Amino acid sequence: MYRKYLAFLHAISINLISRVGVIITSSSFVTFIIMVIALQLGIVTNAYVGLLIYLAIPSFFILGLILIPIGWRLQKSRVHKQTGELLEEQFPSEDLISGVFGSRLLIKVAFFTLLNILFIALISLEAFEYMNQPVFCGTACHNVMGPEWATYQQSPHARIKCVACHVGEKTEAVFFAKFNGVRQVYLESLNSYNRPIPTPVHTMAPARETCEQCHWSDKSYGTKIKDFVSYDTDEASTPYYTTLALNIETASPTGREGIHWHISVENEVRYASVDDKNLTMIYVEARTDDGSFNRFTNPDFSENVDLSGALRTLDCIGCHNRPAHIFLDAETAVNNKLEQNVINTSLPYIKREALASITQEYPDKQTALTGIEDHITTFYRENYPEIAVSMGPAINEAVLALQEMYGLYIHHDMNITWGTYPNFIGHKNDSGCMRCHNDMLEDETGNTISGDCELCHTILAYDEPEPFIVK
Ligand code: HEC
Ligand code: HEC
Ligand code: HEC
Ligand code: HEC
Ligand code: HEC
Repeated sequence: MYRKYLAFLHAISINLISRVGVIITSSSFVTFIIMVIALQLGIVTNAYVGLLIYLAIPSFFILGLILIPIGWRLQKSRVHKQTGELLEEQFPSEDLISGVFGSRLLIKVAFFTLLNILFIALISLEAFEYMNQPVFCGTACHNVMGPEWATYQQSPHARIKCVACHVGEKTEAVFFAKFNGVRQVYLESLNSYNRPIPTPVHTMAPARETCEQCHWSDKSYGTKIKDFVSYDTDEASTPYYTTLALNIETASPTGREGIHWHISVENEVRYASVDDKNLTMIYVEARTDDGSFNRFTNPDFSENVDLSGALRTLDCIGCHNRPAHIFLDAETAVNNKLEQNVINTSLPYIKREALASITQEYPDKQTALTGIEDHITTFYRENYPEIAVSMGPAINEAVLALQEMYGLYIHHDMNITWGTYPNFIGHKNDSGCMRCHNDMLEDETGNTISGDCELCHTILAYDEPEPFIVK
């Protein structure tokens, strides 16, 4: 059987080109099988190996297959013979006798063609599956996706596939995304992409096809109590406690009220912003009961610029723009570590110094990591020599936590620093909700979109020295 197979391969290798084709195809096939086994057994795990297995090797396999008929065609014109004559020269005559289903050769060729098609189809399916895995999206283009991959793994969506949010389930979207993905791999290999990757992501499917596959927009979330702890920059890093009752959504006889009011079917909010960042609004419109839109305009842009083409509807991502890639600001990141007691508040001035150490400008990651360590250890050695000794382990732990934090949020090679990717969920730095809920935007009757502190949350406690206890 094996002999016969070899004889067949030998026969179709009519000249150098066909022979090269046969060699390339057979060796890619063998390499493919070995690599897949290695990948399955976990001997190799690198995402680049996946690229090799599912993109490079199959390309060679197909290239080899194409070379074989090219070789035959060239041979035909070189020796001025018909295909039939060449076949007679290359194959034993019993292979060429026509039987019920055609000659044995024909059956063989048909069989191998079918086998090849099956094989290619199988690889394509496998490749498709493989490229849908977050680990592929996150690590195949290591530098580019590194920041999103790192933050994704810490997010509430760490188990959700990238494609569930970025592509959705529509077939056109899926195919488009694959083409786009291949283009991105190509750009990555040429090193030509934007750093940082710009947002909003224009190729992202609408929230209806992504978020809403898992979250039902009409779900009632009621009120959510949320605690915030912040720490002063004094010697004791004094904590302050704020507690809000976020009015996410409540049903009322007249429809829905509260924060998720924007996304209920009865309502629609649209906006046109100055630039792509969606930070400064030109106008914002809310649909009224009669179906018309009430427009709130920014007087800075009163010359009635028509931007109907650039109108966006406020959907989930308009507020939840960081469900998976949460880049905290330095202050919140440090507050969290203090709250979790990973950074010990008994260290004098630790809030102030921690913040100073991570917000300094460093030329690269390595310098930053040593810089953070130097900053913290020098501070205690020079100002609190006894504490530097007695609380040595706590200082080390703080340094490690700050270095890890820096590594997670700051990415020099992608030009990502503090504040590169703002979070729109609250109103830090008058951004987020306050892009619309401000005094500036006015409708025709002079009304503004309310910025009343009690519109979105009841403030149960505000910067109190003790944590709020729900009674
Ligand atoms: C829960 C949904 C969700 C998941 C899962 C998700 N993303 Fe995102 N991603 C988003 C949203 C939302 C944005 C911001 C879109 C915007 O602002 O227009 C985004 C933005 C990005 C950006 C642009 C840069 C940035 O930070 O804004 C990249 C790159 C990216 N995601 C890659 C990935 C990769 C790789 C994975 C999987 C490892 C992934 N995403 C998983 C929702 C998701
Ligand atoms: C494949 C399903 C899936 C998709 C798609 C998805 N989510 Fe989620 N989402 C979840 C699950 C599961 C949780 C609960 C995680 C938990 O409880 O830890 C969650 C949690 C959340 C939360 C609460 C987070 C928190 O801090 O507890 C928000 C907000 C959210 N999703 C928004 C979004 C947005 C916006 C999108 C679209 C960009 C999206 N989700 C897409 C499954 C999904
Ligand atoms: C793109 C603009 C825009 C953004 C961003 C925005 N809103 Fe609104 N919001 C509106 C408009 C417009 C109204 C309706 C105002 C009116 O008709 O008087 C509204 C109304 C509301 C209401 C009142 C709903 C009711 O019960 O009648 C709440 C609560 C609210 N927004 C919360 C928020 C929160 C919280 C955020 C940030 C996470 C936010 N909004 C972000 C435009 C926006
Ligand atoms: C106007 C801004 C806005 C829009 C639009 C919006 N949300 Fe929210 N959503 C919020 C805010 C604010 C919260 C409370 C955030 C917090 O817990 O800190 C929230 C909370 C949530 C939660 C968490 C509830 C919980 O109990 O923790 C989920 C899940 C969620 N939203 C999903 C969605 C989905 C899905 C969409 C789109 C259909 C959407 N949101 C649209 C502002 C918005
Ligand atoms: C349009 C809705 C809206 C309005 C108006 C609003 N807030 Fe908020 N605020 C939010 C949301 C949403 C959050 C939750 C952010 C989060 O979950 O991180 C928040 C968070 C906060 C926090 C805790 C966040 C922190 O970083 O400390 C404070 C304090 C606060 N708001 C105070 C106020 C005050 C004071 C006003 C009135 C001047 C006000 N808010 C008006 C929506 C609003």
